[in-house]
Amino acid sequence: MASNKTAQLKKIRDEIWNLGDSSLYKYRKQNKYFPVIGEGDHNAKIIFIGEAPGQKEAETGKPFCGAAGKILDELIEFIGLKRGDVYITNVVKDRPPNNRDPNQVEIDLYSPFLERQIEIIQPEVIATLGRFSTKFILEKFDMPEKNQSITLLHGKVLDAIAKYGPIKIVPLYHPAVALYNANSRKVLEEDFNILRESA
Ligand code: URA
Repeated sequence: MASNKTAQLKKIRDEIWNLGDSSLYKYRKQNKYFPVIGEGDHNAKIIFIGEAPGQKEAETGKPFCGAAGKILDELIEFIGLKRGDVYITNVVKDRPPNNRDPNQVEIDLYSPFLERQIEIIQPEVIATLGRFSTKFILEKFDMPEKNQSITLLHGKVLDAIAKYGPIKIVPLYHPAVALYNANSRKVLEEDFNILRESA
């Protein structure tokens, strides 16, 4: 029988599949895209949170399965873990047209699903990927650092309190930065080492 966590996560999946009042839902249907709910260990210690699915993700329904995803997989392996050991998701679950930033209406519509995913999985560490999800999570937990830039915050381990207990928040650069800037790969590796020590 499916665990309680699996059943609750499946309910979220079903709700997002049928989210007909989202403008991104229309875009999903027109393009025969999938929503990207999240995947990984339902008991993961670490949850990675990105921004929103790109084209490849929307075509497959899998988070981080394109070029940035390849780098994320390598970084996860670099710290001795496998993709299946963690949980990977995004703030917004449908692809915005032309990879534009999600707008506030979309964030307000999709973020309650992310909040429920966090409360079901109960990770010890929330690793945010990029400025967008970092801002969302730091605001959600009303952190004093919420107005600081990712340039200052990346690789820091912040203590926060979730409904289910104490957690760590570790802001990271989005893995896509390593596609355009070779030096950022090194910084990401250093920050992933810090993430490993925090978990
Ligand atoms: N970028 C993101 O933020 N999320 C994905 O799932 C893929 C690329």
